[in-house]
Amino acid sequence: MKLAAIESPRSRQEALGQFLTATPVADFMASMFGPMPRTVRLLDAGAGAGSLTAALVSRCCEKRDGIRAIEATLYELDGEILNALSATMHECERLCADAGIRFSYTIHHADFIREMSARLAGDLFGTHPPTFDAAIANPPYRKISTDSAERRALRCVGVETSNLYTGFIALIQRLLTPGGQLVGITPRSFCNGPYFRPFREDFLSQLELRRLHVFESRKAAFREDSVLQENIIFHAVKGRNQPGELTISSSSGDYSDDMTETVIPFTEIVHPQDAEKFIHIPSTASHATAKETMDGLRSSLASLGVTVSTGRVVDFRLKAALRKEPERGTVPLLYPCHFNGGTVHWPKLEARKPNAILDNDETRQWLVPSGVYLLTKRFTSKEERRRLVACLYDSELVEAKWVGFENHLNYFHASGHGLERNLAVGLYAFLNSTVVDQYFRRFSGHTQVNATDLRALAYPDRDTLEAMSREIKSLDLSQAEIDEIVIKQLHGR
Ligand SMILES: C[S@@+](CC[C@H](N)C(=O)[O-])C[C@H]1O[C@@H](n2cnc3c(N)ncnc32)[C@H](O)[C@@H]1O
Repeated sequence: MKLAAIESPRSRQEALGQFLTATPVADFMASMFGPMPRTVRLLDAGAGAGSLTAALVSRCCEKRDGIRAIEATLYELDGEILNALSATMHECERLCADAGIRFSYTIHHADFIREMSARLAGDLFGTHPPTFDAAIANPPYRKISTDSAERRALRCVGVETSNLYTGFIALIQRLLTPGGQLVGITPRSFCNGPYFRPFREDFLSQLELRRLHVFESRKAAFREDSVLQENIIFHAVKGRNQPGELTISSSSGDYSDDMTETVIPFTEIVHPQDAEKFIHIPSTASHATAKETMDGLRSSLASLGVTVSTGRVVDFRLKAALRKEPERGTVPLLYPCHFNGGTVHWPKLEARKPNAILDNDETRQWLVPSGVYLLTKRFTSKEERRRLVACLYDSELVEAKWVGFENHLNYFHASGHGLERNLAVGLYAFLNSTVVDQYFRRFSGHTQVNATDLRALAYPDRDTLEAMSREIKSLDLSQAEIDEIVIKQLHGR
């Protein structure tokens, strides 16, 4: 179906979270639906120009598998796109008429979050919330602050979430009839990360996951947001029994090229004992191998006597104590810009970040005693090959009694003190290996590496880590050299 071309200014697009789905992606999403009732009550929340409804209607018309009527309900906040949406609906009417399907539609020029939260909470007297057999969604993506109108509205129906897209999905879920289906394309960030835990719990307790599709290349992100996001498409059915297994498909850059499909037990996607309810998404064969290797590991960070925490120095709160250059009464302050291969380069006077922090009664609580610490970046840039980037902070190379780790870093420590060098170097090799990177990517779709994620990983035992450490002669190894050492120790034992 031909859709009207839309052009909106970039700033408005961003405010509305408006990134329209290309027709081939919409068609692919429509193809994921299972059998539907004779009369399909369809919801398209955040409908834009209607490409998702159009794709589903086209598919129903082509397949002709017993559907007699489609009743579409569309919500769209942007008045400027409504003409295009109406035009698409007329086109749907025409297609359906040709296929002998009754088509009706209602466009609500309204805020889906506010209106549906109110209806679900029973605030709008005399209006019961509608129910739907199918929903197709590419919801707007934008952070919503704790005191925003959206957050308050969602809170009234028991939804606590920090992004519009998860708010949309949580409401859509509540509007589905038992057995009702939802196909959505969203950022992958909800699959892990502590902020999305309540959402994951809500989602997984009310929706049965049937299929997941991931885009392997980050270039395939359809949303050109400044934070690089990977998108996933999911098909889920309203109900409380998760399937025994689940189809995971992946494609490299686009939606249609070189699709790989695997069937994976649900318990490998969401581990039954995992209180965080991370959604692990394996995709390619190498991920499967990485998984096998990681499954063989039995140690946790805690059993190694190691803890990982987020750097405690929040620089904008301690501005007065920061110094560009080290001086009397200061100690080193480490940022990601100090990473230099396997070790740190400090001070880095040419960098824009401060290099030092005053050591006094006020700041001491944010510092740690000098020692050997393993540091990882919390945010990796798209240029970085690995998502996990670890380097060693070594008190032998930086003379100081105390040190500050800034909040964009995670640091591995032993109860607030430095690590034994051998253990730290072994962890350095393990965390920088391709195996861990691939495993990590399975459940982390964004470029952020949380301490929770690092805590949830399985680790080699102490002997194996120390054996890796013994083989490391310098911390300036190539990826191939690190991988060789790690694989040899993981498989050779
Ligand atoms: C990511 S776009 C997707 C549009 C369309 N579904 C598609 O796939 O091409 C999200 C749409 O939601 C609309 N939107 C944003 N906030 C909304 C709200 N609170 N209620 C209804 N629509 C909203 C935006 O204007 C935008 O058109």
